Amino acid sequence: MTEELNKTPVIQLRDIKKNFRVGILDLPVLKGIDLSIYKGEMAAITGTSGGGKSTLMNIIGLLDEPSSGAYSFEGKEVIHLNDDELSGIRNKKIGFVFQQFNLLPRLSAAENVAMPLLYRGESIRGSSMIARTFLEKVGIGDRADHNPTELSGGQQQRVAIARALAGNPSIILADEPTGALDTKVGQEIMDLFLRLNKEDGITIVMITHDPRIAAQCEKCFNICDGLVESKSEAVS
Ligand SMILES: Nc1ncnc2c1ncn2[C@@H]1O[C@H](COP(=O)(O)OP(=O)(O)O)[C@@H](O)[C@H]1O
Ligand SMILES: [Mg+2]
Repeated sequence: MTEELNKTPVIQLRDIKKNFRVGILDLPVLKGIDLSIYKGEMAAITGTSGGGKSTLMNIIGLLDEPSSGAYSFEGKEVIHLNDDELSGIRNKKIGFVFQQFNLLPRLSAAENVAMPLLYRGESIRGSSMIARTFLEKVGIGDRADHNPTELSGGQQQRVAIARALAGNPSIILADEPTGALDTKVGQEIMDLFLRLNKEDGITIVMITHDPRIAAQCEKCFNICDGLVESKSEAVS
């Protein structure tokens, strides 16, 4: 793949293995994953339920450690970093989007988006302004002062995407971001991801079990029996 030589890698996994200890068993879930995600790419991770997609996403997101293998994030090996170093990278460089949105129910949309910025030391006023800018960007600027319970599923996912974007991360990791939405609203969220990728060059990795969603990504990694089965074309 000579063309990949010119691209900047964000994520590079080599021979990543993950076992879970269950009772006396050491259950292999990932058996040697190799994959690279380059700056500006939009990639899907697909595979059967229970096949290890979320396990892989947790490793990519520095939320869990592999049992063995090498992982370089923006060219830096991260396997042996301590918890503080890992959470530093996670908070500054990775934006997470989840199936169930994971918004704080007592806070407004704007406060949810501002929260990670406040943790980073941004002023209240500054965070609030940035939050509102990103809510505009994802199409719900007029809902900034609503609580999550006053928003539809699609609107809540837009808030979660604004929150992920607001910290200016190197990559967005989304675990089944359309999984809790109906087909039409799911496609609207997918359209938003596609726009953020094309217009703003945001690097996005998305887990999905929906082949119609995966087919819209430029790259697809299908996880089968703990290994990457195919990586170049979206499978349907
Ligand atoms: N913390 C854990 N302890 C033990 N087994 C786990 C743990 N997390 C996941 N597993 C197991 O690993 C396998 C893969 O899970 P997961 O990554 O959630 O799959 P997917 O997201 O593809 O549905 C499943 O068999 C699951 O039961
Ligand atoms: Mg999962």
